[in-house]
Amino acid sequence: MLTLRGLPFRHKLTLILTLTSGLGLLVACAAFMTYDVLSFRARMVDDLQALAEIIGDNSTAALAFNDPRAADVVLSALRAKPNIVDAYLYTPSGRIFARYQGPDAAAGLMPPPPEGAGHRFEGAHLLLFRTTFLKGDPVGTVCLRSDLREMSARLGRFGAAVALVLLASILFVLGLSSRLQSVVSRPIVDLAETARTVSVQRDYSVRAVERGTDEVAALTRAFNEMLDQIQARDNALRRAHDELEERVEQRTRQLRAEIAERRQAEEALRQSEEQLRQSQKMEAIGRLAGGIAHDFNNLLTAITGYGELLLQLIEPKSPMRRYAEEIRRASDRATALTRQLLAFGRKQLLELKIVDLNALVAGMDAMLRPVIGEDIRLVCSLEPSLGRVKADPGQIEQVILNLAVNARDAMPRGGSLTIRTANAELKGAEGWSEAAPAGSYVMLEVGDTGFGMDAETRSRVFEPFFTTKPKGKGTGLGLSMVYGIVKQSGGQILIDSAPGRGATFKILLPRSDGPVEAQAPRAPGAPAAAAHETVLLVEDEAVVRALAQDILVMNGYTVLAAAHGPEALAISERHKGPIHLMLTDVVMPYMNGRELYERLAPSRPQTKVLYMSGYADSGIVHGGAIVPGTAFIPKPFTPEALAAKVREVLGGARNN
Ligand SMILES: Nc1ncnc2c1ncn2[C@@H]1O[C@H](COP(=O)(O)OP(=O)(O)OP(=O)(O)O)[C@@H](O)[C@H]1O
Ligand SMILES: [Mg+2]
Repeated sequence: MLTLRGLPFRHKLTLILTLTSGLGLLVACAAFMTYDVLSFRARMVDDLQALAEIIGDNSTAALAFNDPRAADVVLSALRAKPNIVDAYLYTPSGRIFARYQGPDAAAGLMPPPPEGAGHRFEGAHLLLFRTTFLKGDPVGTVCLRSDLREMSARLGRFGAAVALVLLASILFVLGLSSRLQSVVSRPIVDLAETARTVSVQRDYSVRAVERGTDEVAALTRAFNEMLDQIQARDNALRRAHDELEERVEQRTRQLRAEIAERRQAEEALRQSEEQLRQSQKMEAIGRLAGGIAHDFNNLLTAITGYGELLLQLIEPKSPMRRYAEEIRRASDRATALTRQLLAFGRKQLLELKIVDLNALVAGMDAMLRPVIGEDIRLVCSLEPSLGRVKADPGQIEQVILNLAVNARDAMPRGGSLTIRTANAELKGAEGWSEAAPAGSYVMLEVGDTGFGMDAETRSRVFEPFFTTKPKGKGTGLGLSMVYGIVKQSGGQILIDSAPGRGATFKILLPRSDGPVEAQAPRAPGAPAAAAHETVLLVEDEAVVRALAQDILVMNGYTVLAAAHGPEALAISERHKGPIHLMLTDVVMPYMNGRELYERLAPSRPQTKVLYMSGYADSGIVHGGAIVPGTAFIPKPFTPEALAAKVREVLGGARNN
């Protein structure tokens, strides 16, 4: 049964058709055969009955006359009937009167005991008894025993015929059913095939072919409809899946971007914190250095000035002259240092002008070449449409010079020094310090191909006295000064450098367009000549006041000295003659230099003014302590410088 179940549908159908029709045929044949056997047996009985009657009738006389021989003759006629095995004639008392043994009679075959008329099948034989009457009285009984050979033969023939017919029919049915089964099986096989394709390939677009209008067709239709629904659902599912995947992808991208953004923001924050820390540190150091430098400046003014005066008074041949010269040399060095510290502390007085950096760089060419030497190539890359900046050109020159000297020192075996200018638009901090607001800038870049700096050095180069150069070679104030000047000019400075990869200093100055102002020619040291004018000297620092007074008196001026503004005003009131010039300090108690001048000017409109200061942060200029563009002499000054400046302000040397 299992194997039958496992068979393909069409084979199963063919087999079932063949089996059922074969079985039907078999049953029909069996019925025919049974009927035939039964009717054959009845005929046999009839035939035997007739034969027994004839034998009985012919034996009546022999029985009546008790003539067994005659009876034997009658019985011997049975020889013509080969199916008769043996035959007996019994007397009414049951004695065997005559007997016949056929040629085929078996040896052990016993005569049956006599019985009344009738017949029975016994084993392979048919036994028949018939009573013979004479005038109504029984005279004897005939017993015939027939074999069933004929019937067996007939049965055999019949069986063979039936088998043949059966075989032929089965073959015919097989052939026919295997052809006709496709009418039933084809749609089902198709359906099964379609279902298999769908399940194996997950292809919901295939459809089973619908044939006719029967139940299988209905099933096919239902199956196809189901496929339609599954396909629709599958498509929707796939779309949803694709959409989901797309969304996941998109979200992942977003998340990645957000993470990158956050990292960037964190990095920017870290950098700006670092910059803030750095600038706070620089601010603190700057304040300290600036304060010290300012106080030193006043002392140096006196040392320098009196050293100078001493030199003028000491005989050329005097041994004291060397001492005085040493004092002057030392004070010159101290003055240079103090100036750098002042620059770093942003306490210089800047003479701000609209400057064209290109012209300034070009003008420095001749000065720079000998400084950097022949092994270093100087490359200038200047932006033709460069914006202007507001700066002190002398200080910017100092900046470039310092950077160039550093670059030279970083390239002992030669290389190239590049000075580049460019316009820059800043949209945000963009790596510059948080103090650089968005806007238009001009960039000045000084780069070299030297040995560069590591991060540690880079973070400390602007500190005053930080140097990596051997003792006596560098003071470590060069970049401090650069830093102070840039900051005081409202700019920013950045270093791009790595060990072995050179260094580039980028300076960003706020753009300030306007007509370029010519740089004032450096005042030629006017030769000292005896003067007669009256100078009102106002200075709160006693040593400086005394020095200035000495210098002026030595140069022939009449000096009215005052320690502060109110005193100066009082002197001016008391003095009857003219006052040609007021030489005044800027920062003083009670009132500053400019206020003093404004108070003095109404009563003495002819009086000119010359400011002197070692201390000028932007507050002094912009806060109005002096008017930009008015005459000014920085402290410390040499006697010649002061004399020359006074002469210049008073209207040129008298000997011109
Ligand atoms: N272009 C450069 N390449 C490599 N290192 C540099 C460069 N510029 C400056 N430095 C480093 O920065 C340090 C500080 O420079 P800074 O100009 O302030 O002082 P200095 O050159 O050592 O001395 P000074 O300038 O006072 O003579 C230098 O000692 C050097 O280590
Ligand atoms: Mg230097």
